[in-house]
Amino acid sequence: MEERLQKVLARAGIASRRTAEEYIKAGRVTVDGKVVTAMGTKVDPARCRIAIDGTPVTMAEEIITLLLNKPTGYVTTLKDPQGRPVVTDLLKEITARVFPVGRLDLDTEGALILTNDGDLAQRILHPSNEIKKTYHARVAGHPTGKTLQKLEQGIELEGKKTWPARLTVLKKNTRDTTVEITIHEGRKRQVRLMFAAMGHRVLALKRVAYGSLGLGSLPPGKYRVLSKRDLALIFT
Ligand code: URA
Repeated sequence: MEERLQKVLARAGIASRRTAEEYIKAGRVTVDGKVVTAMGTKVDPARCRIAIDGTPVTMAEEIITLLLNKPTGYVTTLKDPQGRPVVTDLLKEITARVFPVGRLDLDTEGALILTNDGDLAQRILHPSNEIKKTYHARVAGHPTGKTLQKLEQGIELEGKKTWPARLTVLKKNTRDTTVEITIHEGRKRQVRLMFAAMGHRVLALKRVAYGSLGLGSLPPGKYRVLSKRDLALIFT
């Protein structure tokens, strides 16, 4: 069946129809090896070879899951009304319509999973699965052993006690301390609020792992495709 080229591209997971139109206008789309720039050209995806920048477009969207090292200054949404950079700006080569699983604050960096697998996202986010998330927080001052213990046992936050956490001091500087904290809740700004409640401002925050899946040496702004084995690590 013939359809407009931009619609075919959108259906194949090439972002939005508008983006597909931009690709066509820019001469990046070929049909059977020929560049097509005329908007509204009709094609039969079952009978022709469509490519973007030379990469063939496959119609059935593959399930894909990525681990991104989100830099600070990027918003964890697909679009930002204020025009700030969004995490998917860093995934230009990914044609599948992946979405972030959970969120990281604008000023938080580190591990962010993106997927087009709704079931996986659900399993990661569902509180009953208690997926551990580990952060490195550089906080102002020097939290005492008692403070760390309180945070581990759970503190009252916005009228609700936090679940037990695990905290380890990684590094003590003159004015600040780096603490590793593992939680399995995902309340908004939870780590910042937990430390703030104990009088320690979070100066820098990075998520370093989901379960046993660590960020490793992935540089900020880069991502990698996760294997089945990687996915299993999230749940251990
Ligand atoms: N806790 C926070 O305070 N911020 C994040 O981005 C993630 C966890």
